[in-house]
Amino acid sequence: MTIIVTGADGYIGWPTALRIADRTEDRVLLVDNFARREWVSEVGSVSATPVAAIEERLEAAREEIGLHNLSFHEGDLTDRDFVLELLEVHKPDAIVHTAAQPSAPYSQINGERANYTQHNNLQATRNLLFGLEETDQTDTHFIETTTTGVYGAPEFPIPEGGAVMENQGERDEVPFPAMAGSWYHLSKSHDAANMRLAHDQFDVPISDVRTAITYGTGTEETRADDRLATRFDFDYYFGVVAHRFCAQAVAGYPMTVYGKGEQRKPFIALEDAVEGLARLATGDPDDRPDDHVVYNQVTRAISIVEIAETIADVSGEFDLDVDVEHFENPRDEDETHKMEIENDRYAALIDGQSTTYEEGVREILADLVEQEETITAHEDRFLPGVLTE
Ligand SMILES: NC(=O)c1ccc[n+]([C@@H]2O[C@H](COP(=O)([O-])OP(=O)(O)OC[C@H]3O[C@@H](n4cnc5c(N)ncnc54)[C@H](O)[C@@H]3O)[C@@H](O)[C@H]2O)c1
Repeated sequence: MTIIVTGADGYIGWPTALRIADRTEDRVLLVDNFARREWVSEVGSVSATPVAAIEERLEAAREEIGLHNLSFHEGDLTDRDFVLELLEVHKPDAIVHTAAQPSAPYSQINGERANYTQHNNLQATRNLLFGLEETDQTDTHFIETTTTGVYGAPEFPIPEGGAVMENQGERDEVPFPAMAGSWYHLSKSHDAANMRLAHDQFDVPISDVRTAITYGTGTEETRADDRLATRFDFDYYFGVVAHRFCAQAVAGYPMTVYGKGEQRKPFIALEDAVEGLARLATGDPDDRPDDHVVYNQVTRAISIVEIAETIADVSGEFDLDVDVEHFENPRDEDETHKMEIENDRYAALIDGQSTTYEEGVREILADLVEQEETITAHEDRFLPGVLTE
């Protein structure tokens, strides 16, 4: 049996590949084109935790955790011939598709980056879905990390999947993942719709995993050796909000909350994100609730202010002195939106969350104080405006 993990050099893909390889005897094939390493250097930043070359990562996985079932294939998933050959040769039983350009601010820089993001993300997914059909492998379980951002910020509690629509007294459940607020997020709305279509037309079993903002410096496997560390970005474009704040705390820089910051956003620890993906990839097909399933991969909705204040509280344990500052919001969003999001299906998949947000922050800060020099050297990257063309 073979499981393919796309985007396997990335923040979520790498620890996911390790977890899957550790859980199963199956061959785990990692695919990536190293684009993320280039984007971050393009915006003048760097991962806080040093990221080893892929060969070193695989060697460390063999030596330190005895994983002999991992291999790597470099390639660009927007290349249809590459994808068809990949599928023909390796005949995967499951694909965990995490490859994407995942930054909203990067996709918003200009039309070129918006084009790039939507082309990259949509074409990669389409190539894989059509590739399964064209190579006669429509039993392969296709699992993609889309994003909770596909829902936008509606005024009703977000269901785990479609929404009920009523018109002229008639009601039906409709998929509604198209209220996204950035060119990146909308690429995932399109992916969600395309996966649904591929399920309807080709019968490919789909797990559409709507991933929340993911935080954490590592997982059980990545902590086994420095060479196994996953990346941790903290710049304006590629650092998710909790990561940027933690890095700002370490650099002695005030945490920058945009606007009031009372809006709640959905979060999940990296450990909990990886666990769910590994269970989906290695699980018994008969245990899946359906052949097209949406999971809200989230454990909590937290307000931006609460995020900053928790980090400020925990910072004291590391002798860091941190201020929370409010800046004018560069984003067009409701700063008091109280998001509620259902997650029963995902919570059942992982049997509840592994850590609290506060414990997660403690772990991140403990790791980041070791990288203070790298962060301080790039602290001008916390704010937008570094890259405008
Ligand atoms: N990290 C988060 O908070 C978060 C939140 C919601 C959704 N997601 C989704 O989870 C997935 C993984 O996110 P991440 O944070 O690990 O991002 P990441 O950028 O670290 O990982 C994505 C990987 O995909 C690779 N890639 C991109 N385009 C490719 C292509 N055309 N061919 C081959 N490889 C390609 C990149 O080089 C990178 O290593 C993405 O789909 C993202 O949209 C992430």
